[in-house]
Amino acid sequence: MLIWIVGSRGLLGTAFAKLLKERGAAFSATSRKECDITSWEAVQHKGKKIVPTHIVNCAAYTQVDLAEREEEAASLVNATGPYHLALIANELHARLIHLSTDYLFDGAMRRPYREMDACAPLSGYGRSKWEGEKRIEKTANKWCIVRTSWLFGPGGGNFLSSVLSRMQREEEVQVVSDQVNRPTFAFDLAEALFSLLDAQGIYHFANGHPMTRFEMARDLFEEGNKRGMRLNCKRVLPISMALFEQAARRPPYSALDTSKVTEFLGKPPRSWKEILEEYLCSQNACL
Ligand SMILES: NC(=O)c1ccc[n+]([C@@H]2O[C@H](COP(=O)([O-])OP(=O)(O)OC[C@H]3O[C@@H](n4cnc5c(N)ncnc54)[C@H](OP(=O)(O)O)[C@@H]3O)[C@@H](O)[C@H]2O)c1
Repeated sequence: MLIWIVGSRGLLGTAFAKLLKERGAAFSATSRKECDITSWEAVQHKGKKIVPTHIVNCAAYTQVDLAEREEEAASLVNATGPYHLALIANELHARLIHLSTDYLFDGAMRRPYREMDACAPLSGYGRSKWEGEKRIEKTANKWCIVRTSWLFGPGGGNFLSSVLSRMQREEEVQVVSDQVNRPTFAFDLAEALFSLLDAQGIYHFANGHPMTRFEMARDLFEEGNKRGMRLNCKRVLPISMALFEQAARRPPYSALDTSKVTEFLGKPPRSWKEILEEYLCSQNACL
């Protein structure tokens, strides 16, 4: 087995490379600079040099708001890129494992979304990721798509790291309280990906339970204070999505149903409490 991690410098790519190192698995990792997936020549050249058995695509255009103005650029990375990876995977008889998102859903549902629920993205980012999924399903012979949501972890820009730094600077932090989703810890997703390397089809993976960003921030605030973190913040306040200026529309509810992956892995994803504790430890805030 030889795994090619594409887009290795991002939040998930970094966590996945760390996990493979710990497991002693053979892998080769490329950043955007080393292999830009929008270029078929670059993908073909790198793929033929590495000759992987598995390609794990952690590369993506992830700037949700900017994608409203740059939908074509988002689509090049999130749809054309995966298509190139599907072509090279077929040529090398490799499996393609691709990451996707809960933003494929419109949020009209009031129960967690299952793998076969209809997609109706509300944003340019969501449309580009959906197009990527469709191109993989149509092109790749051996593929697995893992949809996830609200990813966070040490070392990358994400909601928890940005809200934590706001709490260190500001006395009052306002956080959206009318968008419900499930948080996902990058290392837990990396472990799930490792188990799913030989799986076929679509899987949903997320930790915890459906919750709002406000609830996440409030728990982070309380736990951070308990652990003696130096926070300037005195209050975390709820705010409606409508009052928070964002270019892209987000689904009000896009929690993912993880029954299928729970059955596959033989255990449910870890709880919010467990992953929050581990995250705070990684921020040197262990009790
Ligand atoms: N973050 C979330 O909350 C979230 C939620 C749901 C789903 N997801 C999905 O999970 C996956 C991983 O997300 P993430 O948060 O780890 O993303 P990330 O931190 O933004 O990393 C994405 C990586 O892709 C690289 N990249 C961008 N364009 C590329 C190109 N043309 N060729 C090769 N590499 C390129 C970036 O390189 P540079 O750094 O050089 O730009 C970056 O290292 C993505 O598929 C994303 O859609 C994420």
